Amino acid sequence: MNQDQKKEKSAKEAYKLIEPSIRRDSVIGIGTGSTTNYFIEELNQARLDIKGVVCSSEASAELIDNVYQVLSLNEVHSIDFYVDGADEFNDRKELIKGGGGALTREKILASCSETFICIVDESKFTNLLGSFPLPIEVLEIARSAISRELMKMGGKPIFRNGFTTDNGHQIIDIHNLPMEVPYELEEKINNLPGVVENGIFSKRKADIILSATDTEIKEIR
Ligand code: A5P
Repeated sequence: MNQDQKKEKSAKEAYKLIEPSIRRDSVIGIGTGSTTNYFIEELNQARLDIKGVVCSSEASAELIDNVYQVLSLNEVHSIDFYVDGADEFNDRKELIKGGGGALTREKILASCSETFICIVDESKFTNLLGSFPLPIEVLEIARSAISRELMKMGGKPIFRNGFTTDNGHQIIDIHNLPMEVPYELEEKINNLPGVVENGIFSKRKADIILSATDTEIKEIR
């Protein structure tokens, strides 16, 4: 089974998991990325009778393609289920996200959700987060200053050239950053002036991780 097939398997499992709890007033949060795209396919095919969806990116909203009402987060009280992929996960259900650059909206939606289901294939597992370069969304004016601070923390910042987030900001990817205590690092980076958000999901980590292997779906709760 290749990686895409595993991503699809995990997305289908997420749909199966939430389907029995869906009601007419349900709001589903939609993440961003290739794994989430499989979940969107599943959701679109089902044509559920729900209040609507809230999307973490323009790209995901486009894929919903009017099958569901795409709501703004301001229009809803909460999100019943937020389903999204990840770039890395550990067995504490902490994540690195933002490979696709949607980390800020993803973190906001995750934080407003009752249940955050993370869909991945097993290759994303790590004991120690940080092999995947940590994305940080920054205000343009502060990019160099933030990069210098990240270098003092031991990381190697690389500017994601030519990329602008849906919020109109820039991304720097931090390589080789020591990440022994993700919770503390998440807060420390977000305290740097000019940082919009960073891709460590430790304060609001996943509730359930569905990780597809060749033979099964591992469910981490
Ligand atoms: C998007 O900004 C990311 O957080 C994605 O959720 C993450 O990069 C996983 O992407 P794939 O599902 O494409 O691997």
